[in-house]
Order: sequence, then C-alpha cells, then structure tokens
Amino acid sequence: MVRHFLDIHRLEAAELRAILDDAHARKAARKGWPQGRPDADAPGKERVLAMVFEKNSTRTRFSFDAAIRQLGGASIIATASDMQLGRGEPVEDTARVLSRMVDAVMIRANNHEDVERFARVSTVPVVNGLTDRSHPCQILADLQTIEEHIGPIAGKTIAWVGDGNNVCHSFIHAAPKFGFHLNVACPAEYHPDLRDLEKGGASVSLTSDPREAVRGADVVVTDTWVSMGDQDYEARLAAFEAYGVDEALMALAAPDAVFLHCLPAHRGEEVTDEVIDGLRSLVWDEAENRIHAQKAVLAWCFAG
Ligand code: CP
Ligand code: NVA
Repeated sequence: MVRHFLDIHRLEAAELRAILDDAHARKAARKGWPQGRPDADAPGKERVLAMVFEKNSTRTRFSFDAAIRQLGGASIIATASDMQLGRGEPVEDTARVLSRMVDAVMIRANNHEDVERFARVSTVPVVNGLTDRSHPCQILADLQTIEEHIGPIAGKTIAWVGDGNNVCHSFIHAAPKFGFHLNVACPAEYHPDLRDLEKGGASVSLTSDPREAVRGADVVVTDTWVSMGDQDYEARLAAFEAYGVDEALMALAAPDAVFLHCLPAHRGEEVTDEVIDGLRSLVWDEAENRIHAQKAVLAWCFAG
C-alpha cells in the first residue's frame, strides 16, 4: 500500500511515535555535518520529490528541499499557477502524470479536498504540506522541539491560544495519538472545526479564556490570526484582540514553560517581541526541526 502522509489522525500512534523517534535520531546523527551531506542510510537515494505550491512558503519549501537532499534524493519545485493545474487541468490527471515521473509529491493546497483527490489516484506517496484544514508536518517538528527541551510529550499540557485554524487542527489530531492534553482558547466564532475537535476527544478542552487555557501549561503555542486565504482581516483583528501572547500570559504557565509559533509571526498581534525573542521561545529550533521531522516522514513514506 502507498504510504501517504495526509493527516496525523490517519496514522497509528506507534507509527507516529516511530517517525518522531527517527526525527530525533536523524538530527542527533548530523551534528556538525554540512547541510548538503546525505544521511548515512540515504533512504531517498535516487528518489525525486516533487513539490507543488498553491500558497506562499518559506520554511516548508526550503526544509523539504534540504530534507530530500539529505536523504540522498533530489527535488522539483513548482508553483501550481505555473502548471497546467492553473489552467484547469484536473487534479487527478496531474496526479497520474506526476506518479509516472517522481517518487513522492508534497502539496501545499488551498483546499484540503484537492490533496485527498490527488492522493486517491497517486501511485506514489503524497505529503500534506499545509491545507486550509491541517498542517501535519508542522506538528511533528513542534513535538520534536518540545521533547528536546522539556522531555517526553506524553502527559504534557499544551495551550493553544488564538485561531482554531489548520495548525490547531493538527495539534488536536496529535493529542490522543501522542498522549498529551491540549487546551484550546479561541473566540467562539473562530473555534476549531467540530469534525476535528471530535478526533481529539477527551484529550482536548475548549475555552474562550486564554488565561484558563494557559494556567499551568507546559507549552504555549499561537499562530497568525489571519491565515493564507482568510479574507476577514479587520474582523479577525477585532475578535482576537484579547488573545495576544505576552509576558503576563506566559507568567500563568508552568515556571519552565516554553513558547512555540510555526512562523511567520506577526509581532505585536498574536505575540509580543518580548515573548518571541525571549528565553522561553523555541521558534528557531522549531523551524529547523521541520527538516528533521520531514526527513522522518519521507523515510517512512519511502519504506512503504
Ligand atoms: N510554518 C510554515 O509552514 O512556514 P511556511 O509557510 O514558510 O512554509
Ligand atoms: N495558519 C497559517 C500557517 C502558516 C504556516 C496559514 O495557514 O497561513
């Protein structure tokens, strides 16, 4: 069976744990190596990863490109609007063609359903590089970062403050799989999708009070209030006014609590300079870990 990495809730807990352990091992094994040198086992040797972007990207684009090279393979990067996709060629036909030319495809799409459609006919692994619904690769990098700094994720409490968006959904999916508790604080009109909340079950609590969510938490996470594709900028800024992460909010968390943000950040909106540049912020390690976590995902896909 082709191993697609579309959403965290689609994998077994043991598979996810193995991917995260592999990410840790790959990072540890690379200490001091030049970025271009392949990992010793080179599971991507002679493999080509295609990347298709319908939305902007810095981290996902560069980290996947570095990742496939470190796995021993090569990449082809395309913007969807430059492809015939941009002129209406069906997603399924694009999938059939790319399946004949490359060994895996990473897609960043406006509509989650398009990635599902692609995967349904693709004969090579498909990786979700962010959609309107989820961002699973990000969460693996986040969990890797947390474990590096404060130990095993199982039993920890993560507070998500802000928009119940795509990144939040993937945290929700991860909570029961990795055994952590997730407190989500967001305004009622921007809560996570109920279908996703259902997947989190008892591992997820929802509140509209950021202070309640953060109290005693081991990790505080936020993201932009206006994701790519959101049109209601002014309404969002007003709705999220009380949801900024500042030092007063961080002070309610556990004494050794850490701060994460998938980036790009909007300083002065969802987070202050003091927090994102402060001692508790792990955002640069978090960005780096996109490479290590994605290598583990690709290695898992290729091993299928
Ligand atoms: N966090 C993240 O996915 O960043 P990019 O949008 O830059 O890829
Ligand atoms: N929620 C953000 C994440 C960017 C990496 C967005 O979708 O724009």
